[in-house]
Amino acid sequence: MIDNVDLISRWLHMLAAMAAVGGTLFMRLALLPATAQLSPEAREPFLQAVRSRWAKVVMTAILLLLVSGLYNISRKEVTYQVSPLYHALFGIKFLLALGIFFLASALVGRAEAYAAIRRQAGKWLVVNLLLAVLVVCVSGVLRQIELERKPATPGAPQRSAFRTSNIPTCVPAAARLARLPPGTACRATQGYT
Ligand code: HEM
Repeated sequence: MIDNVDLISRWLHMLAAMAAVGGTLFMRLALLPATAQLSPEAREPFLQAVRSRWAKVVMTAILLLLVSGLYNISRKEVTYQVSPLYHALFGIKFLLALGIFFLASALVGRAEAYAAIRRQAGKWLVVNLLLAVLVVCVSGVLRQIELERKPATPGAPQRSAFRTSNIPTCVPAAARLARLPPGTACRATQGYT
C-alpha cells in the first residue's frame, strides 16, 4: 500500500538524516582540519560563527527525525504485528539516536557545562559519526524484518491514494508492492502466490 503521508514522512526522515550525518562528516573531515591553519585568535570566533549557523540545521533535523520517526513507528504498530526482535532493535536505535542528538546539541550549543565537549570537537564528531553509522545499519535491519500485517477491520475506510482494493488480487508483484504477506492477496481467489 502506498500512502501519501507515509511517503512524505519517509522522505523527511531520510532527508533530515542525510543533512545531519553529511554535515557532521563535512565538519570532521574538511572544516575542522582547515581551521588548524588559522591563528588561535581567529579560530575560536570563526568556529563560533559556524556553530551558531549549523545549530539551526541540527535542531531542525532533530525535530524532523523525532516527528517522522514517531509517526513511522506508530504506523508500524497500527498496521503490523510488531515482533519482539523489532521492538528490541527499535529500542536500541532510539537510545543511540538520543545519544547522537545530545552530542550534536552539545557540539553546537553555548552551554558552559558542555564546553569540554566543544574543546574536543574532533573526537566527539567521530563518536557521533560512528553512532550514526550504527543507527543507519540498525534502521536497515528494521526495514528488512518481515512483519505480519494485522487483519483489516471490516468496513474500515482505507486512507491511501493507492488502495489495496485497486490492486488486481492475483498479481504477485502488486501484492509484494502493497507489502501484503505472501499469498494473502490471492488465497481467497485463484491460489497464486
Ligand atoms: C540520527 C538519527 C536517525 C537516523 C540517522 C535515522 C535513519 C533512518 C533510516 C536511514 C531509515 C530507513 C529509511 C527507509 O528505508 O525508509 C530509518 C527508518 C526508521 N526510523 Fe530512523 N533515524 C534516526 C532517528 C530516528 C528516531 C529518533 C526514530 C523514532 C523516534 C526513528 C524511527 C524510525 C522508524 C520507525 C523507521 C522505519 C523502520 C522500518 O522500515 O521498519 N528514527 N531511520
